[in-house]
Amino acid sequence: MQDLESLVTHALGEVAACATLAQLDEARVRWLGKKGALTEQLKSLGALPAAERPAAGQRINEVKERLQAAIEARRAGLTRAEIERELAGRIDVTLPGRGERRGGLHPVTQARLRIETLFRRAGFDVATGPEIEDDFHNFEALNFPPNHPARAMHDTFYFPDGRLLRTHTSPVQIRAMLSQGAPIAVVAPGRVYRCDSDMTHSPMFHQLEGLKVGESVSFANMKAVLHGFLQAFFERDLAMRLRPSYFPFTEPSAEVDMSCVFCEGKGCRTCKHTGWLEIAGCGMVHPNVLMASGVDAERYTGYAFGMGIDRLAMLRYGVNDLRLFFESDLRFLEQFRTL
Ligand code: DAH
Repeated sequence: MQDLESLVTHALGEVAACATLAQLDEARVRWLGKKGALTEQLKSLGALPAAERPAAGQRINEVKERLQAAIEARRAGLTRAEIERELAGRIDVTLPGRGERRGGLHPVTQARLRIETLFRRAGFDVATGPEIEDDFHNFEALNFPPNHPARAMHDTFYFPDGRLLRTHTSPVQIRAMLSQGAPIAVVAPGRVYRCDSDMTHSPMFHQLEGLKVGESVSFANMKAVLHGFLQAFFERDLAMRLRPSYFPFTEPSAEVDMSCVFCEGKGCRTCKHTGWLEIAGCGMVHPNVLMASGVDAERYTGYAFGMGIDRLAMLRYGVNDLRLFFESDLRFLEQFRTL
């Protein structure tokens, strides 16, 4: 029993001297293991007179606990040191993580957000509608009666039940008027679908519809809003002209041209040497459309327009093939990262 104190001092010294976790484990076994020095002490209790056993046992247990605590503390210290050594040697914690690449908004999304912002500034709300439409909203209410020849120009994707993928964003005009009534001023951006594919056509593309209905809304108002929008979108002075055209849902109807942003009207490949780029369709909302949407066609007039968002994005960013937008090639898309 007298040795107990020197035994502990010895043991604590050894623990403190351990330089690795393996050495520490060896020391633990030597002192506290099944055949360890302290365990032997406990076993020797049996040789003591019964009266001395409890006190001796208690002392040995105290010593055992002290030693255990010292081993745990040393283990924690060695573990921390080992981790620090590894970090210092191999890992640069200031490096960015692997496989983390900065993303960005798709150029078509950037164009759409920009267009929305400009029209919001001019007092328009943003409306949406479903991409799976029915004949009523996509055609009928837009004054395309059954068998109307203009339906044939839309190359519609039909579902077996007669529903369809909307061929334009114009059905949102009907939905917006049916739910909000007049007066109303909305733009409706979204995906549209046509069975068509080449350099300048994709089976899915993006349009933006505009609709303004109110008392004494005029063709001149429409012309001013469209011209103002184009100059703001392209951030420059440009000429705009309207050419008479035909759409079932507008009367009169017009095609909107703007002076070519690449050659400033001098003539180049993009504008097919005309100096003009066709950019939108527009017109005064046909009374039949107002009536189909529950709007009083005697009291209200309105204008509508539809433009291709992808085409606006191509012109703004100088992209010559529409399909590039939809191929998800990061080498192309990364060029539009703005953040
Ligand atoms: N919906 C037409 C299309 O996809 C575009 C259009 C033309 C929309 C004239 C309009 C408009 O609102 O007034 O070809």
